[in-house]
Amino acid sequence: MGTNRLPEGFLWGGATAANQCEGAYLEGKKGLSTVDVIPAGKDRFPVGMGKMKMFECDKEHYYPSHEAIDFYHHYKEDIALFAEMGFKCFRLSLAWARIFPNGDDAEPNEEGLKFYDAVFDECLKHGIEPLVTITHFDVPMNLVKTIGSWRSRKMVGYYERLCEVIFNRYKDKVKYWLTFNEINMLLHLPFIGAGLVFEEGENQEAVKYQAAHHQLIASAKATKIAHEINPEFKIGCMLAAGNTYANTCAPEDVWKSIEKDRENYFFIDVQSRGEYPSYAKRMLEKQDIDIKMEEGDEELLKNNTVDFISFSYYSSRLTSADPEISAETEGNVFATLKNPYLKASEWGWQIDPLGLRITLNVLYDRYQKPLFIVENGLGAVDNPDKDGYVEDDYRIGYLREHIKAMKDAVNEDGVELMGYTPWGCIDLVSASTGEMKKRYGFIYVDKDNEGNGTLKRSRKKSFYWYKKVIETNGEDLG
Ligand code: BG6
Repeated sequence: MGTNRLPEGFLWGGATAANQCEGAYLEGKKGLSTVDVIPAGKDRFPVGMGKMKMFECDKEHYYPSHEAIDFYHHYKEDIALFAEMGFKCFRLSLAWARIFPNGDDAEPNEEGLKFYDAVFDECLKHGIEPLVTITHFDVPMNLVKTIGSWRSRKMVGYYERLCEVIFNRYKDKVKYWLTFNEINMLLHLPFIGAGLVFEEGENQEAVKYQAAHHQLIASAKATKIAHEINPEFKIGCMLAAGNTYANTCAPEDVWKSIEKDRENYFFIDVQSRGEYPSYAKRMLEKQDIDIKMEEGDEELLKNNTVDFISFSYYSSRLTSADPEISAETEGNVFATLKNPYLKASEWGWQIDPLGLRITLNVLYDRYQKPLFIVENGLGAVDNPDKDGYVEDDYRIGYLREHIKAMKDAVNEDGVELMGYTPWGCIDLVSASTGEMKKRYGFIYVDKDNEGNGTLKRSRKKSFYWYKKVIETNGEDLG
């Protein structure tokens, strides 16, 4: 019989990414990153897709990463607020170009390393365990310009250097690492996911899968180096998850949903099971894609699988084999049909708490490794009062239902779960739209889409609610 409890030491917390919160985009000798040249507004999507070349910033566009919420100068205050909520864990990412401004520098940038030292020290002072994403949509622009980013095998070497430096430097401060944020995003937003920009007429699928191979090799090397430097390190992969439902019980629809899910599982199958799955080999053959592997690649993948599986979950997905119905697909990053049984957020992201329980079970059945929910949440417009207080019952409602589903997966179904870090625990820049008004946080930040605002932080109603949830280890969901 299951209990209603989560395990002792469950890692409650929140998640962010450097490019969406740090700001200070050229301070402390930081170099320019891919994310720094992705503007807000109508050009964001074509740039993020790698279809529109933007290698420098111009005066016509607004680039939200440049200041973001200025976590770079506010980290002490922000971490103190996380501590007040009782966070056990804080997920953040490193800006690669803060540590290697050009990606290929002979020496790392001491100022960048010191910044993360200070951030980790601040976390540890409050008893908060850092969970570090090594790269979260982030490549030094110099590597895009000189070698075409992840389309080049040379990236593996530069990433390896980064890992050696950070693992050695932070080995006594950080235990949990994720190699690539939402590694499957590379297929959907190739510039955001991997710094890929396409040339006219080239086989984009071939470029993407070759880049994916490089990231998978880099991830395995990181895992190897990590375990050599500190055997206590726990290394995770990270999937943009959410199961794909079949639109009807027609076997063709069910088959289509399996194929859709495999597009995403492919990455985790390699990172967790240690080899290219046979369905992926066939799929690549059929598309005439010949992945260039080096000697030793297969062995490396086999011997260096991840310790745990982390994922983001915002919604389930829906697909149909009927081309007429598929034509109605919503214009989301991950194309999906509208599920008539689900409500959606103001941005059209469908809300499906049971889908989280389904996803947890499917991933656990498939990989039999501990899971970690490292993103989940509701992006919504908030209307603060004059003190910045927001009555965000809609956010509380979303999170409550998802936490219930997560507890069911643990207690009723026996899923092994390490922790839960909802996305954007403090308001930050939206990755897909570049907006500030798509807010996820327990903490309101006074800043608008155009970059105006005092950056003042204030506690929302959900702040007090989440504090209680953590205090009671998920027993009291209000
Ligand atoms: C995930 C990313 O895709 O979803 C985050 O890892 C992102 O970087 C989050 O912010 C929410 O998406 P959005 O587009 O609402 O910011």
